Amino acid sequence: MYEMKPECYTGLEDIDAQHARLFELAQETYDLLDDNLLQDKTEELTHLISELIDYTKMHFAHEEAYQKSIGYPFADRHAIQHRQFEDKLMEFDFDSIGDDYNRQNEAVENLLEFLVSWLTTHILKVDMLYINN
Ligand SMILES: [Fe+2]
Ligand SMILES: [Fe+2]
Repeated sequence: MYEMKPECYTGLEDIDAQHARLFELAQETYDLLDDNLLQDKTEELTHLISELIDYTKMHFAHEEAYQKSIGYPFADRHAIQHRQFEDKLMEFDFDSIGDDYNRQNEAVENLLEFLVSWLTTHILKVDMLYINN
């Protein structure tokens, strides 16, 4: 459902694989939201968010190093957007939500919405700038 759309492909194999993994993590977020049998999602959520943070950091570092290697002139501006995304991800503090089922689902829904819209917009409008540079 959340797999990467054809227009998001950059043609750089490693970057595409990393973006695809990020969309896969969005799908995992949706699956967790959709799981009606799991009464307390705290553990899964904590795991998911930490994986998201780790993977995103790895991808951003990779992308920033690549930009540097090609002498991309707007690398600094691009990196600021990455930092803002990381900050926002770290604001999702699922530990403090407690075990209330509805509040947990609401938090997962917010995360999913943020994730998918940021990813798509960033890839299409910002990543594509260094790809087509
Ligand atoms: Fe980027
Ligand atoms: Fe990217």
